[in-house]
Amino acid sequence: MSPFSVQVTILFASLLFSSSIAQLNPTFYDTTCANLSSIVRGVVQQAVQNDERIGAKLIRLHFHDCFVDGCDGSILLDDADGIASEKNAAPNADSAAGFDVVDDIKTALENVCPGVVSCADILAISSQILVSMAGGPTWEVQLGRRDSKAANQAGANTSIPSPFESLSNVTAKFTAVGLDSTDLVALSGAHTFGRAQCRVFSQRLYNFSNTGNPDPSLDTTYLGTLRQTCPEGGNGNAITNLDPSTPNGFDNNYFTNLQNNQGLLQTDQELFSTTGADTVDIVNRFANSQSEFFDNFAKSMIKMGNISPLTGNNGEIRLDCKRVN
Ligand code: HEM
Ligand SMILES: *[C@@H]1O[C@H](CO)[C@@H](O)[C@H](O)[C@H]1NC(C)=O
Ligand SMILES: *[C@@H]1O[C@H](CO)[C@@H](O)[C@H](O)[C@H]1NC(C)=O
Ligand SMILES: *[C@@H]1O[C@H](CO)[C@@H](O)[C@H](O)[C@H]1NC(C)=O
Ligand SMILES: *[C@@H]1O[C@H](CO)[C@@H](O)[C@H](O)[C@H]1NC(C)=O
Repeated sequence: MSPFSVQVTILFASLLFSSSIAQLNPTFYDTTCANLSSIVRGVVQQAVQNDERIGAKLIRLHFHDCFVDGCDGSILLDDADGIASEKNAAPNADSAAGFDVVDDIKTALENVCPGVVSCADILAISSQILVSMAGGPTWEVQLGRRDSKAANQAGANTSIPSPFESLSNVTAKFTAVGLDSTDLVALSGAHTFGRAQCRVFSQRLYNFSNTGNPDPSLDTTYLGTLRQTCPEGGNGNAITNLDPSTPNGFDNNYFTNLQNNQGLLQTDQELFSTTGADTVDIVNRFANSQSEFFDNFAKSMIKMGNISPLTGNNGEIRLDCKRVN
């Protein structure tokens, strides 16, 4: 090959490579909706006044959206002809929340830049703004996702990890979407804020795995507190803080909690208490350094946000996040 054709080959190879990894970019709406982030910020600042949990709710929606056929807003669709809503899937039913605020953001955006900003991108950008408002890291949000015309309820039932799974099963569900153990530990750190219902952890409190005893990886004082919140046979919908030490702040206390056997969900504590697991050292690193947690959290959020986006002419920009156009 002549030097010229080598150069041309390298040029085309690098173009191909960059288009396959950089489908999204931070400047996507700079000309079409220049005020995007200040509009979203305005709505979520109002929402936090009414509901200190809204950041937790919206980042969880983003996670449950991305794990089911990619970050395409599919979780936001209501039941309709040909649509079995993901809202009624096992991980979301009577649990996923914040949809009203997504609608408020969408309305505010439609007023200024109609038909431009996708619902999938609303989840990504509002998650970042709310994490940073709670004291967490900032990062450059990748944008340009389009919205699905379908939901996948069966996929939501099987692809989103359950709080009763083994670490190896949870890891497999992360691996299936291209996320590794570091991503798993970093992203689990989102349980530094928000709440969980008794029904998702009470299996640990009384007769764990039919042993007649509580989960041995649960601190006894913390166990006592949780038993008061969730008496045996009591209301499964009662809620408690995922992070007992700083319930609403975004910090690395989640990881020190795990070191102290004060992880709330079985799947939280497994990251630290599973003998020989590669997640143990990562928990220790993030417990020792908040900045290391923040750096990795930001990286992993971008990675999760890059799961199979719809771009180009695929999908659509929904006018109402709850239904296809
Ligand atoms: C690793 C596997 C994970 C499992 C098994 C899991 C499971 C759960 C469960 C069972 C709840 C409580 C739901 C309820 O009681 O209604 C919850 C809440 C929450 N999850 Fe996860 N989660 C995981 C990973 C993640 C990730 C990756 C994120 C975000 C990056 C996240 C963000 C949240 C937040 C913020 C809440 C609190 C929501 C609220 O207050 O409404 N979780 N999670
Ligand atoms: C952008 O939003 C801010 C605050 O909502 C407002 O003050 C400003 O005028 C807006 N700019 C444009 C170009 O719409
Ligand atoms: C998903 O799980 C829910 C709740 O367990 C169930 O009602 C629904 O039928 C399941 N949907 C599919 C498509 O498997
Ligand atoms: C792990 O996944 C396997 C295969 O899907 C399943 O049979 C098993 O019940 C799961 N175990 C746990 C503890 O979740
Ligand atoms: C724990 O559950 C198993 C299986 O349901 C049952 O046989 C056993 O009696 C229970 N133990 C206690 C102490 O409740």
